[in-house]
Amino acid sequence: MSSLLDIVQVGDPVLRQRARPLAPADLHRADLVRLIDDMQATMRAAPGVGLAAPQVGHSLQLVVIEDPPSLQARLTPAQLAERQRRPIDLHVLVNPTLTLLGGAGADDVFEAFEGCLSLQGLVMGVTRSLQVRVEALDQHGAEVVLEASGWYARILQHEVDHLHGVLCCDRMDPRTLTTVAQHERLWKLASPAEMRRALETPR
Ligand code: CO
Repeated sequence: MSSLLDIVQVGDPVLRQRARPLAPADLHRADLVRLIDDMQATMRAAPGVGLAAPQVGHSLQLVVIEDPPSLQARLTPAQLAERQRRPIDLHVLVNPTLTLLGGAGADDVFEAFEGCLSLQGLVMGVTRSLQVRVEALDQHGAEVVLEASGWYARILQHEVDHLHGVLCCDRMDPRTLTTVAQHERLWKLASPAEMRRALETPR
C-alpha cells in the first residue's frame, strides 16, 4: 500500500536547496523503493504530471513523471496540438542532467501557462525550450538517455529545475501570474502573450 505524502509549499527551504545525487546502490533500499512508490501515488492524487523529491521534503535527485490521457481530456484538441502535448507513460528519473537543444530563437522556445504543486493555486506564463535531452538513471539504476520535445520537454525542464532549487516562478513573466480560478474565468483560452496584451497599462 502506498501512502500520500504532504507536498511542500513555496517558502520551505528544501525547495531552494540543491538536491543530493543518489548512488545506484541506494535505489535498492527499501525506504527508496517506498519513497518512489509514494511519490507516484502522490503525483496521481494531486493530480500532477511530475513530482520531484524536494517537493515531498527529500533533498534527493529523484523525479517521477506521468502525463496520462485522463489529464489531457481537460484540453481541446487545438490546445493539445498547440502545446505539443501527448500522453507520457509513468517513469522515474534519478540524477538527471538536462541539455537544452536548439537556441533561444523564437522557433526554439515557447511560452505557456504553467503551474506547480508547490505553488498551490497559481499559474504563470513561462518560456521554455521546445527540445531537450536528458541523461539519467531509471529507478533500477540503468542509464537512460532521452530526447523530448513540446510539453514533455517543458515537464522535464520544470522537474529538473526543482533539483537545483529553481521554481517556475523564477522563470515566469510576472505580468502573467494569476490564480487557477482567475485563469479559468478569464484566461483559459488565452496565451500568456494575449493576457499580457489585454493587461497593458493604458497610457
Ligand atoms: Co513543480
